[in-house]
Amino acid sequence: MKADESSSFETRLAGHAQAVESLLRRLLDNRPREGELHRPEGLFAAMRHGVLNGGKRLRPFLLVESAALFDMGGEAVLRVAAALECVHCYSLIHDDLPAMDDDDLRRGQPTVHKAFDEATAILAGDSLLTYAFDLLASDETELPADIRLDLIRRLARAAGPGGMAGGQALDLEAERTKPDEAGILTLQAMKTGALIRFACEAGAVAGRASAADREHLGEFGSAIGLAFQLADDLLDLTASTEAMGKATGKDATAGKATLASLHGVDWTRRQLSGLIAQAEELLEPFAEKADVLRQAARFIAERQR
Ligand code: IPE
Ligand code: IPE
Ligand code: MG
Ligand code: MG
Ligand code: MG
Repeated sequence: MKADESSSFETRLAGHAQAVESLLRRLLDNRPREGELHRPEGLFAAMRHGVLNGGKRLRPFLLVESAALFDMGGEAVLRVAAALECVHCYSLIHDDLPAMDDDDLRRGQPTVHKAFDEATAILAGDSLLTYAFDLLASDETELPADIRLDLIRRLARAAGPGGMAGGQALDLEAERTKPDEAGILTLQAMKTGALIRFACEAGAVAGRASAADREHLGEFGSAIGLAFQLADDLLDLTASTEAMGKATGKDATAGKATLASLHGVDWTRRQLSGLIAQAEELLEPFAEKADVLRQAARFIAERQR
């Protein structure tokens, strides 16, 4: 991306991040909502620690921008984006647990189980996952009921055993089973790709896009989802802990085969360029209206954190 394009993209990303964060801050305060008996302070403090700690908010961005393609926006779409971010943050809290990647640092701060304790981190993750579906199902998310049901089903599948959670299981196994390239691609499509694909599809669902348009955006999401994990694995090899706000060099230490470690840095960079070209092509039906999503694809491939 050229420098001026990159800075206007980052400004837009920061604007969306601010909007979704201020909604999340309101949603995760200590005040019990209708149907809740009480909000345990320690648990909610841990949930806020895991959510309101400076993520890039890329998934909410993709969701809001995909919806905008169909002239859909406002508070309802932002609530769907917040639900997705809750699921993503839960996945990070659990990913960092000692039984999984055993990481102490996330987004430049102590991980939730370090700042609190393991049991609280497990429950904060459980709570964020469940709360995401509460948000989607709630009448306060002012979308027609059939759309909310479709979003619930799609998010459940993207996050569940055939999606992110299943991919995490395969990822942990991979340290022992050493999957081949096809195996790595499958696990990455599940652990990282599924939620990113959901982000792009959900915008189309919320905007009642045609099945063909929804499929195009879904395929776009899969391409950038793969690029996202390739970039993450590349950064794990090449970037510093300070730049990433999380430990790097972990995959090699854990003996985890990634495409970046298998094929090296130059191959990975070439692969990323190819994926971005493919992703941009998938946006052709939307012409210049999809320029921001094209920039998002390039940002994902070129990101430094
Ligand atoms: C990190 O995701 C986990 C992966 C799926 C590789 P992000 O890089 O989007 O993390 P945050 O939300 O910006 O911290
Ligand atoms: C995690 O992948 C993907 C998730 C579903 C959370 P990684 O384990 O590579 O993510 P980081 O590097 O810890 O962010
Ligand atoms: Mg992991
Ligand atoms: Mg990890
Ligand atoms: Mg990683």
